Amino acid sequence: MGVSKQFVQPSGDILGAAGFILSGGIGGVPTETVYGLAANALDERAVRKIFSAKGRPFIDPLIVHVCDMAMAEKVAFLTDRAKILAKRFWPGPLTLVLKKRDCIPGIVTAGMDTVAVRMPSHSLMRKFIEACGCPIAAPSANPFGYVSPTTAEHVAEQLADKIDFILDGGKCAKGVESTILMLSESGKGHKLLRAGPVPVEELEAALAEEIDASPKHNEAQPQAPGMLKSHYSPHSRLTLFDCPSEVENLRAENVIFFTRPTSPESNHFWLSENSDLSEAAANLYSLLRKLDKISPNGFFCQRVPNTGIGVAINDRLSRAESKL
Ligand code: TXA
Ligand code: MG
Repeated sequence: MGVSKQFVQPSGDILGAAGFILSGGIGGVPTETVYGLAANALDERAVRKIFSAKGRPFIDPLIVHVCDMAMAEKVAFLTDRAKILAKRFWPGPLTLVLKKRDCIPGIVTAGMDTVAVRMPSHSLMRKFIEACGCPIAAPSANPFGYVSPTTAEHVAEQLADKIDFILDGGKCAKGVESTILMLSESGKGHKLLRAGPVPVEELEAALAEEIDASPKHNEAQPQAPGMLKSHYSPHSRLTLFDCPSEVENLRAENVIFFTRPTSPESNHFWLSENSDLSEAAANLYSLLRKLDKISPNGFFCQRVPNTGIGVAINDRLSRAESKL
């Protein structure tokens, strides 16, 4: 779908974007992870529009984005452990699930008494939240269940007719959604709800406590739908593999490799030029979206080394592969 240039706000027009938010509108905004679909977190009617634009079920709570600690304190109760992590990882791609304050409407948290809070590091997003002067509820700016957007064009392609503006902040630097951590009060039983750019080992080191990196959850009532077996999923069939030799005979198929093959063919694509996991993460969703468009009979993608941000990449790939 095409979109007029005026619709994608040039990166400088923060006040214009904030104006839409303050009058109850919704729009695409850049973060360092993926683009979000923003509304004033304190405005129940505006937040409702997010759910209908995404086709998102109301049981799926939203992340609330803040620009400083004072705003974080207004939306949630920050425990000592939360403050330690905030000091170390905010602003940045870490979301903390905390006890919510009364000002956050139930629609944001799916009626739960906890709220997911994060302080993004993208400079345009931070200025945007400051200009709005209110916490910003924002899920990823994609139809529910589909691959997240990492450029303003991705947002426009799928949501242009359902939203009021897009603030163009360029390509997202990290490329996969934030790490989500649910802290326990006792210090035992912290749960990693979603792997992301901040590796679980770094969180454990900062807390000097253990985190359960694969908590059991009920498939019918997951604590984060990002944990659903099938999510982040292209329309075309995706098949994963580990070794390049597994796909050698599949000449007719489009294939995404982790790193550039020595003699690539026209149906070969790669996440990184030279085995760099951060580069691979930043390119992941653009490539999945591209191959989804050009591969009606399905396509293949190689798993990456399962370390650092590679854990989050492999997590998204296996959910994208699963159709269950
Ligand atoms: O990087 C990100 O986190 C991006 C950018 C835009 O900030 N946002 C994002 O939002 O990925 P979304 O809605 O696509 O994923 C947020 C996840 C959901 O799976 C949701 O269930 C979980 O966070 N979540 C939100 N509030 C929660 C809560 N109170 N308890 C447990 N999980 C929660
Ligand atoms: Mg999402």
